[in-house]
Amino acid sequence: MLDIDQLIEMTVASDPLRVPVLRSAIRALGFAPGSRGLDAGCGAGSPGLLLAEAVGPGGHVTGLDLLPELLAHAGNSADQASLSARVSFLAGDANRLPFEDHSFDWAWSADCIGYAPLGTLPLLRELARVVRLGGRVAILAWSSETLLPGHPQLEAGLNATSAGMAPFVAGSRPESHFLRSLGWFRAAGLEQPAALTLAGGAHAPLTDEMRRALVALFQMRWPGVEPELAPEERAEYRRLCLPSSPDFIADGPDYYAFFTYSLFHGRVRH
Ligand SMILES: C[S@@+](CC[C@H](N)C(=O)[O-])C[C@H]1O[C@@H](n2cnc3c(N)ncnc32)[C@H](O)[C@@H]1O
Repeated sequence: MLDIDQLIEMTVASDPLRVPVLRSAIRALGFAPGSRGLDAGCGAGSPGLLLAEAVGPGGHVTGLDLLPELLAHAGNSADQASLSARVSFLAGDANRLPFEDHSFDWAWSADCIGYAPLGTLPLLRELARVVRLGGRVAILAWSSETLLPGHPQLEAGLNATSAGMAPFVAGSRPESHFLRSLGWFRAAGLEQPAALTLAGGAHAPLTDEMRRALVALFQMRWPGVEPELAPEERAEYRRLCLPSSPDFIADGPDYYAFFTYSLFHGRVRH
């Protein structure tokens, strides 16, 4: 289990992979310059800063998270990026947003939905409550990947572990999976529910920054999986997925990887 400093370090290290995809999502949503938005479950702040860039000098983004350590990191990053006039970070529970009805032009939440203690439908209802009539609500999250090209069986095995499947839990109702979000948008009374798939990736030769991003990603994607693997699978995992191994897959001259984010969005009913 990662502690909070490791979580911040890994999230920041993986940003070179994720930021282009987050930018594409923000572009697709077309948040207007000058608009005011909410980033629920803002974490260490990277999406909030990108949103702040998108709304321009006349706009404002409020990032909200439960954890003060993440909020402190997010605030420092905003200062360093000279964006603190456009983005502020606030402690609070996304299940009970500390805002009046219709306070924002839009609300979004990245890589949060499905993670305890955030129930998707209650969260969507809260996001819809604080957004103005006709405004947009969006959620997005990591949804698939090929990180071990040429080793589909190992990758499938890693993805079938409890860590690999998280936040989905084996035996849960299929409707509770993040990829079933369209149903939740309808249940929350949001109009025009829609889904968009966004892709990111990396290939050899990797920069040092991109290698660090992939190392962080492997650690976040498959944490503590070894006890659930069969002995040969565990040996292959160690050989190919640990950065200290001479056969670390991302160091190969032909390495190529890709992943998807799924973006779900809808509008608050007039
Ligand atoms: C995987 S992180 C994603 C952070 C950020 N959105 C990003 O994309 O970098 C999930 C975040 O949700 C936050 N979170 C979980 N439950 C929450 C709640 N009930 N209210 C506010 N934030 C919550 C966690 O503290 C964590 O920062």
